[in-house]
Amino acid sequence: MDVAEAIKERKSVRAFKPAPVSMDMIREIVEQALRAPSWANTQPWEFAIVTGKQLEGIQKGFLERGDQEPNPDVARPYDFPEPYMSRVMALPFRKQMPSKEDMDLRRIQNFKHYGAPAVIYLLVGRSFFYQPKGINVWSLYDCGAVVQNIMLLAINYGLGTIAQAQAVVHSDIVRKVLNIPQSKLIALGIAIGYPDWDNPINQSRTEREPLVEVARWYGFE
Ligand SMILES: Cc1cc2nc3c(=O)[nH]c(=O)nc-3n(C[C@H](O)[C@H](O)[C@H](O)COP(=O)(O)O)c2cc1C
Repeated sequence: MDVAEAIKERKSVRAFKPAPVSMDMIREIVEQALRAPSWANTQPWEFAIVTGKQLEGIQKGFLERGDQEPNPDVARPYDFPEPYMSRVMALPFRKQMPSKEDMDLRRIQNFKHYGAPAVIYLLVGRSFFYQPKGINVWSLYDCGAVVQNIMLLAINYGLGTIAQAQAVVHSDIVRKVLNIPQSKLIALGIAIGYPDWDNPINQSRTEREPLVEVARWYGFE
């Protein structure tokens, strides 16, 4: 598939069919994605790719935590000054203030990875990210490139994905089930599977600011 087409087609999938995804398919996707660029080719990413009983164990642990205060390895943003808050509020499922029931349901769906049969966890070396002179943000920047590669390549295989910060809010649970050492940050989960396109939740599309709002041009005639 043409890159531009894949970029246009990609969207976050929030309802998956239960059909499993083969290990070979995910292996091909992640292997190709590894061509992403990174700071001095440091390739700060590692992956824990999970399905079956282990994924069920993680989901059970998360659901048992309910709405307890999360403690992710990488802090989430809490402040959304303008123009960012307006963009959050423009999300198709945010058009009105969510009720407590809506929030609970959304959290549960997140914790079940929207029904995806597999999750690719992104791991980053803790001492590479947290450095004495400050956070090495470039390591997560590099990871963003490899994650986008995964999400675009998945489309070639008829698969859908969603990046999920919510999948790692209780990183201690993922760490325990998969026996991941403290030296690795568990930075993100990418749910992957066959999209259920008939589900209404997959039918909306997020908007983008027009180019004229976000780009300034200098030196062009
Ligand atoms: C780093 C990152 C974390 C995200 N975490 C979540 C999440 O936990 N739950 C969720 O439903 N969507 C999550 N998303 C998906 C975004 O909400 C989505 O990408 C955005 O609204 C744009 O929509 P689109 O992906 O359909 O284009 C995340 C996206 C990124 C890039």
